[in-house]
Amino acid sequence: MCGIVGYVGNNNAKDVIIDGLKRLEYRGYDSAGIAVIRDGKLQVRKHVGGIENLEALIGTDKLESHIGIGHTRWATHGAPSDVNAHPHTDQSGEIAIVHNGIIENYQELRQELIENYGVSFRSETDTEVIAQLIGVIYKEKKDLLDAVYGALEKMRGAYAIAAIAADEPDKIVAVRKDAPLIAGLGKGSNFIASDIPALLKYVKEIYLIENNEVVLVTADAVKIFDEQRNEVKRDVFHVTWDADAAEKEGYEHFMLKEIYEQPKGLADTLGRRLSPEGKIDLEGIALRKEEIEKLSKIYIVACGTAYHAGLVGKYVIEKLVKIPVEVDVASEFRYREPLIDENTLFVAISQSGETLDTLAALREAKAKGARVLSVVNVVGSSVARESDDVFYTWAGPEIAVASTKAYTTQLMCMYMLALYMGLEKGTIDRAYYDRFIADLKAVPDKLTEFLKDTEHIERLACRLYNKEQVFFIGRGLDAAVSYEGSLKLKEISYINSFAIAAGELKHGTIALMEPGTLVIALACQDFLYEKMVSNVQEIKARGAYVLAVAKEGNEAVGEQSDEIIYIPKIRDEIAPLLSVVPLQLFAYFVARERGCNIDKPKNLAKSVTVE
Ligand code: G6P
Repeated sequence: MCGIVGYVGNNNAKDVIIDGLKRLEYRGYDSAGIAVIRDGKLQVRKHVGGIENLEALIGTDKLESHIGIGHTRWATHGAPSDVNAHPHTDQSGEIAIVHNGIIENYQELRQELIENYGVSFRSETDTEVIAQLIGVIYKEKKDLLDAVYGALEKMRGAYAIAAIAADEPDKIVAVRKDAPLIAGLGKGSNFIASDIPALLKYVKEIYLIENNEVVLVTADAVKIFDEQRNEVKRDVFHVTWDADAAEKEGYEHFMLKEIYEQPKGLADTLGRRLSPEGKIDLEGIALRKEEIEKLSKIYIVACGTAYHAGLVGKYVIEKLVKIPVEVDVASEFRYREPLIDENTLFVAISQSGETLDTLAALREAKAKGARVLSVVNVVGSSVARESDDVFYTWAGPEIAVASTKAYTTQLMCMYMLALYMGLEKGTIDRAYYDRFIADLKAVPDKLTEFLKDTEHIERLACRLYNKEQVFFIGRGLDAAVSYEGSLKLKEISYINSFAIAAGELKHGTIALMEPGTLVIALACQDFLYEKMVSNVQEIKARGAYVLAVAKEGNEAVGEQSDEIIYIPKIRDEIAPLLSVVPLQLFAYFVARERGCNIDKPKNLAKSVTVE
């Protein structure tokens, strides 16, 4: 996590960097800082808290300079504080660096620097160790590129680093090892950043930096070198997102905007791969009939919200394709010796494409011979690049930490994958397929309609926002959606929420039901509807306050419940595309009522590039 921006060129570096950092704040917001070079000296400003604190600290100082680096932090080593904030400088105050990731052997390096070079450390961070290490080497080499290469030989870990030196005020040297890094190509100005939204306002042409590469950025050129210091040629990557996509456009929060962007994201994700005749085109994805027939098992691996999308994926793939699917969280999968062979398909789901655990699980599966297909939103991200095939979601940039449109577009990919494989394998027939596709096509309009009137949900949230705990229950696919609804609520409102398959309630959790306990009960699966009505009766009998979510026309559950939200009528399998939306909105309105920092909830980050 953590965001990095660096700039060298004709404009005032501070302005470009602060602007870029604001767009990256979703990567971390414990503290922020900037270093520029003015009159041959480093000027460093950093402050705990969001970018606004940094701006207040800088005040009216223009910090006039044509070169600088900036950082927004998500703390790993050392608490959020002014001193632990980046940039960090070396002892001489001539080198400044920003860093994203973790240096695993930093204790050892720190000790070495203290003992052999008399370095005294100011912070608790692993980052200062890098600054001091580069500083020590720089004293001897007097060349920033040499010094960074020297430091790389000694550091172990996963990181992206950008460094500047007061004596070389024309260059930024940056390096990537398992943490995202891009270089932006401007005119008379060049950039580096941890990800695309930081630079969207300035450039559309970028270089995607690969692992173990070092980049030398000056105002006129961006040069990439490999580990052996050979210059590497890289194709220019053209970004298709426009800058507006990363703006709030009048919405109070990115999360709300992104909830409202779901109809478009769904239509785009479907539309990109659906021919006018209704045929799903998996061009570029090598999943031919023979390959599908050979598959003995599918693993879907992901983290957080993407994992919840995987739960829906399991259900539909097993139902439509008749291949066993296991879903696992990446941090568990990678350490559990999964049974993989060449007949295994490994599906990684990731919005950012940079989640370290997902990436590590993918590598593990690949090494064991699995074919890797990823479902990713960020084009050119690490997960996308390391996969055999990529099925892109077309959600557009998702900025709010709490994922919404990425989730629904990931579900859309799951449905399309299941339908495609089912038809190829012959486990579903054309008529079933056609009806399913028609139902999927209808979703964006149904959702647009639903989103026109959310007042009821807002009113409920205003009434229920002060609950200390909330339970989410559902059966079948509703259980999968419950997990996601519960995660949304806890992420942004900090309410202790818990989701459980409704049938499992009586095996323990029902002990927690008391008069007034808020339970959100999903009853959007027709074939499980009556079972769900019984579950609602069970908890009502214990005094729970039940808010049900059901399809229009299914009134029985409403009669048993205290409150009801209706979603449009829809086929069971794809109900999650609609039923999750009131849960997203409920979480949003509750968090707003509680005065929470919705787009940047405490302790979380959008892209988790550490283990
Ligand atoms: C973080 C985010 C979640 C996200 C998860 C996986 O925890 O806060 O919103 O679901 O990472 O991220 P990915 O980018 O791999 O989908």
